[in-house]
Amino acid sequence: MAYAGNNQSLPSSFFKTDKPHGLAKRTILKKYLQSWVPRMYYTNNPEICYLDGFAGAGVYGSKTISELLQSGYPNIEQFGSPIIALLVVLDHFDEVKASHQSIGRPRSAKFIFIEKDKDNVKKLTHNVKQCLQHKKYMLHEQVDDTEFIYRPEDETYPGDGRVSVKILNDEFKRVILVRLIPLCPVFAFVDPFGYSHTPMDVIRKLMSFSNVELFLNFMVQAVNRWQKDKQKHKAINDLFSCDEWPNVYDNPKEIEHVKACTALVHEYAYHLRYFTGCFTLCFCMKSENNSDLYSLVFANNDDYGFKNMKECMNRVTQDENLFVFSDFKVNEMGEMAPFRNDQDSKGPVADFIFNKFCGKRVELKDIEKAVILSKHVYIFRKESLKHLEEIGKIEKVEFKNPGKNWVRKKGTFPDDKCPIITFRSATQEEGLIFQMQNIGIEDTGSCCQTHLQ
Ligand SMILES: C[S@@+](CC[C@H](N)C(=O)[O-])C[C@H]1O[C@@H](n2cnc3c(N)ncnc32)[C@H](O)[C@@H]1O
Repeated sequence: MAYAGNNQSLPSSFFKTDKPHGLAKRTILKKYLQSWVPRMYYTNNPEICYLDGFAGAGVYGSKTISELLQSGYPNIEQFGSPIIALLVVLDHFDEVKASHQSIGRPRSAKFIFIEKDKDNVKKLTHNVKQCLQHKKYMLHEQVDDTEFIYRPEDETYPGDGRVSVKILNDEFKRVILVRLIPLCPVFAFVDPFGYSHTPMDVIRKLMSFSNVELFLNFMVQAVNRWQKDKQKHKAINDLFSCDEWPNVYDNPKEIEHVKACTALVHEYAYHLRYFTGCFTLCFCMKSENNSDLYSLVFANNDDYGFKNMKECMNRVTQDENLFVFSDFKVNEMGEMAPFRNDQDSKGPVADFIFNKFCGKRVELKDIEKAVILSKHVYIFRKESLKHLEEIGKIEKVEFKNPGKNWVRKKGTFPDDKCPIITFRSATQEEGLIFQMQNIGIEDTGSCCQTHLQ
């Protein structure tokens, strides 16, 4: 199944069926929003905005929104992206209310849903309203045909709790180029079917507003397939904002499908970093026959957000060394395996740390930064350092702020004491192994890229 750039062949059954990779995609979205929403409010933003450029109908499968809501929705990711975002925000408001944290601090949320298909807009409007009613919000103001504002029924609700929803029956490109985006922090989810509706100049315009984080679906299978058709080149040029992209179709035998797709995604992420100055992270989704379908590309400018997204992708990946999820693997196992709780912090990530810092004296915060911003899928855990100390690869641990009479317990690295760690030098044998490992990583084409090189 491949969709050309013009979206004409969109199957009407799309929202009736759901594939494991779709669930994995929306799980990453949900997990990230669950950290982004509180973080934005706690850093003193009175308002946040979630923008969904290709919103869909909000519900998958044959059940209605009421049935799903009444079942207690244990897995929010079963909903479509707009409802996931709405529920994450409303659940956060509930938590804040329960803990009395927001007293005196107004909070509100804006949702902008863009959807080209009239029928989907109708369904989405219905689903959003049902969801707000279920969470005990009442209509406060109908601004116009496209925008409505809801408030909590509970008048004692601390803070504001205002939720404004704008559902535009329009094209993503047109909305971004013509309409204004709010000035508060924006999380933009851009999830098209093809590639012709997300040209780089539109993405640049979106990212030019301050405080925008982008989570974009780069339809690598479609780009790969349609690059053989010269008539499609203009749209691909627009996607990359240049006419030089890896043209792998001319030499199909010399380059395998996976390498072709990896090259395209890396090139796209490179262009995104070049035009927006952001960090990027990529996560590859594969089909039932294990071929690349699309890559989720995250772009932002903030260390915390980057770290959080890496954590979310790390939980969903099926591979120790790449950000990847394949329906083929799900079918092979006969079920959707539960997402990982954590990585093995004694494994490759500990090797990576020792490889990078052997023979050096380095602050804890720099080790953490190196792990987060590396091209690897690893996330930082202190268990890795504990393990390296246990096996004798850490020679010495000192502290910038030890305080008076404080005695360190082996294997602990308290942040407030600012640990400085000295790693022993690598043996000749270890040096050779590290060299080989680095070559291996280049060959497989890591899915995680950070800096503009
Ligand atoms: C992949 S689906 C979105 C799924 C949704 N993000 C979710 O996770 O539930 C793409 C949606 O974009 C809509 N669409 C197609 N072209 C569009 C355009 N140019 N602008 C806005 N929406 C568009 C389609 O009708 C479809 O509902």
